[in-house]
Amino acid sequence: MSKVKAYAALEEKGKLVPWEFEQRPMRENDVIIDILYAGICHSDIHNVNGDWGSNKDNFPMVPGHEIVGKVVKVGSSVSKFKVGDLAAIGCMVDSCQHCNPCEHDLEQYCENGATLTYHSKDRIDGSTTYGGYSQQIISREEFVLKVPSNLDLKAVAPILCAGITTWSPLRHWNIKKGDNVAVIGLGGLGHMAIKLAHALGANVSLFSRSPNKEKDAKDLGANEVIISTNEVKMQSVKGKFDLIIDTVPYKHDLKPYINTLSVNGTLVIVGYLGDADDILNTVPLIMGRKSVAGSVIGGIKETQELLDFCGKHNIVSEVEMINIQDINTAYERMMKSDVKYRFVIDINSLK
Ligand SMILES: NC(=O)c1ccc[n+]([C@@H]2O[C@H](COP(=O)([O-])OP(=O)(O)OC[C@H]3O[C@@H](n4cnc5c(N)ncnc54)[C@H](OP(=O)(O)O)[C@@H]3O)[C@@H](O)[C@H]2O)c1
Ligand SMILES: [Zn+2]
Ligand SMILES: [Zn+2]
Repeated sequence: MSKVKAYAALEEKGKLVPWEFEQRPMRENDVIIDILYAGICHSDIHNVNGDWGSNKDNFPMVPGHEIVGKVVKVGSSVSKFKVGDLAAIGCMVDSCQHCNPCEHDLEQYCENGATLTYHSKDRIDGSTTYGGYSQQIISREEFVLKVPSNLDLKAVAPILCAGITTWSPLRHWNIKKGDNVAVIGLGGLGHMAIKLAHALGANVSLFSRSPNKEKDAKDLGANEVIISTNEVKMQSVKGKFDLIIDTVPYKHDLKPYINTLSVNGTLVIVGYLGDADDILNTVPLIMGRKSVAGSVIGGIKETQELLDFCGKHNIVSEVEMINIQDINTAYERMMKSDVKYRFVIDINSLK
């Protein structure tokens, strides 16, 4: 078996360094993809750093779950793909396929735990999964997505996580023309949220800490930008929003944002994963029938619907291309919110 070149964190909190791994043996329902581009998600940084609970035994870790490439091999029972096809992989490569969520195209909520694209265990042979910062990936065909041929491939990659993670709540809360949607944080997820909400006809606002992002937000489709540290501005949108998508990666006070929800409005957290002891108060929820919810990525069917929607509406991510040798600098820049608006690795640079 040949070795696959990759970049990996060899230990928790470690820098990313060149590494090689052996792919697990191919099965009849597998597709193997030569990776062209891989987006860098803030979740990659959280995972490397152990922010979501330490899992030190599972290193080396090859992150990356925004993957676009070309099919190079298919198993004997594969019918959806053939060698040479464009293909994409997002955050999951398998799930149990028979629990209630799986049967309802909600594999991301699989009761038996979806197999994640990296830092997860293959459910058949127990091998570790390795992600997009590598030359090649293997997955069962049900988790491989079709890529619209009219889009710029390198800018498609972030749709596979940043796109679907914001699309799924927009669809679940049935956002339509004229609804008021706000997005908190203009990064990878935030910029896709603005584009997608705008494409659905919503009036879109951005909450940001960064005044220098105002022009970009408007170019992306936002109608207004509210600097979240300005209390007068925050008061000016009191009771306004039907849906707020909160993409901030770290613990932050939710109370000022709840104030800006309309009656029946929902704030959906997709960014921060952790306890909420001192950042929430139930009084405004009760007195305004408001909700605070959470959401993780999206199902495979919904992800394909999003890719098709993006193909039809010509929507892609705004990307800064990097060579893989610059991955650690890209991580440092993301920690400073200094990226416009998604880093994508040209996997050619691995060769
Ligand atoms: N639920 C899911 O399925 C899912 C999927 C993918 C990612 N995620 C998570 O979503 C979060 C965002 O990911 P991303 O890739 O979009 O990250 P990103 O590109 O780094 O963007 C995050 C944005 O949040 C704002 N921000 C950053 N730190 C902040 C702080 N301490 N306080 C307030 N605002 C802050 C910044 O925007 P401004 O400069 O505009 O304030 C920043 O650009 C991460 O935690 C990631 O793990 C969740
Ligand atoms: Zn992600
Ligand atoms: Zn399941």
